Amino acid sequence: MDCLQSWPEPVVRVQSLSESGIRQIPQRYVKPASHRPSLNNNYVPSSQMEVNIPVIDFQNVFSDNQTLRLETLKSISIACRKWGFFQIVNHGVRPQLLKRVREVWREFFNQPLEIKQEYANSPATYEGYGSRLGVEKGATLDWSDYFFLHYMPVSLRNQSKWPAVPASCRELIAEYGSEVVRLGGKLMRIFSKNLGLEEDHLINAFGGDENVGACLRANFYPKCPQPDLTLGLSSHSDPGGMTILLPDENVAGLQVRRDDSWVTVKPVPNAFIINIGDQIQVLSNAIYKSIEHRVIVNSDKDRVSLAFFYNPKSDLLIEPAKELVTEDQPPLYQAMTYDEYRLYIRTKGPCGKQQVESLRCS
Ligand code: OGA
Ligand code: NI
Repeated sequence: MDCLQSWPEPVVRVQSLSESGIRQIPQRYVKPASHRPSLNNNYVPSSQMEVNIPVIDFQNVFSDNQTLRLETLKSISIACRKWGFFQIVNHGVRPQLLKRVREVWREFFNQPLEIKQEYANSPATYEGYGSRLGVEKGATLDWSDYFFLHYMPVSLRNQSKWPAVPASCRELIAEYGSEVVRLGGKLMRIFSKNLGLEEDHLINAFGGDENVGACLRANFYPKCPQPDLTLGLSSHSDPGGMTILLPDENVAGLQVRRDDSWVTVKPVPNAFIINIGDQIQVLSNAIYKSIEHRVIVNSDKDRVSLAFFYNPKSDLLIEPAKELVTEDQPPLYQAMTYDEYRLYIRTKGPCGKQQVESLRCS
């Protein structure tokens, strides 16, 4: 896999470009007309605010009131089937921790470039400070920088690769990681039950609580002088199992595909945005679908989001659950390990839903 050892071109930090005060973005970031945000989206901030992905009060899943409990499970089921995306409030992760972890990542990105460069990443593992996904020479790039790290399995957790400054960064990431992994385990059990599977089916298919993969990508979307011409993150579906996203509390930017339009998610305070990834699409034999999404940028405010990816153990074969395969619903996808699967996005960068579609049995 020599192609993944190094970046094909010198790395440019988007934040540095943004801070240089340029009035026009370099050609490398200009998207083809059909991919630009202004042409085919419904982003009209004032009138479209009502359109939002479902918001679910997660504590009701554990209510003593059976009616409330069942209604809540049902609304999660509908959100998974119809949207592939929803927000949860009262999810049990303390607002104070959310606030601190956001602050610490903002502080990280606001440090001088030389400090961040110590963590510069390569496409071999993607761990560290990066500015592109994919290694195709000449590819159009996205308007963002990021920091990527492994939290689970413990054998891949290497805190010396995490930011040492701000001083509380490593400790906060560890605490945040443990809370979010715990939440991920609860969601996996809810999804299993909602699919009519044994409660532990999905978590076992992912290798069990101790072996799941979990990684964090802290995304930084700098201000952009020509936001109509580019994207902070191109359209993609998440390759892993499920994503638990902590969006910027002040700046919207995430858009979810709904038929032929794009719905801009309005973040609810202290909520997580949950979305189904390709591996759960495969395991559920497409009862749940990973939905395309992208990020738009703007000219006045930078934006920070924390995407926590909850993934199968990387060497297990993932295939449609036998219980969900019938004569009417034959298996839609071939089995593949997540190790093999994620090479695609790591090589080509974000490409809508091309990859999961390519797994379809013909
Ligand atoms: C991602 C992602 C959305 C956001 O990191 O995969 O879709 O709002 N992020 O940053
Ligand atoms: Ni994503």
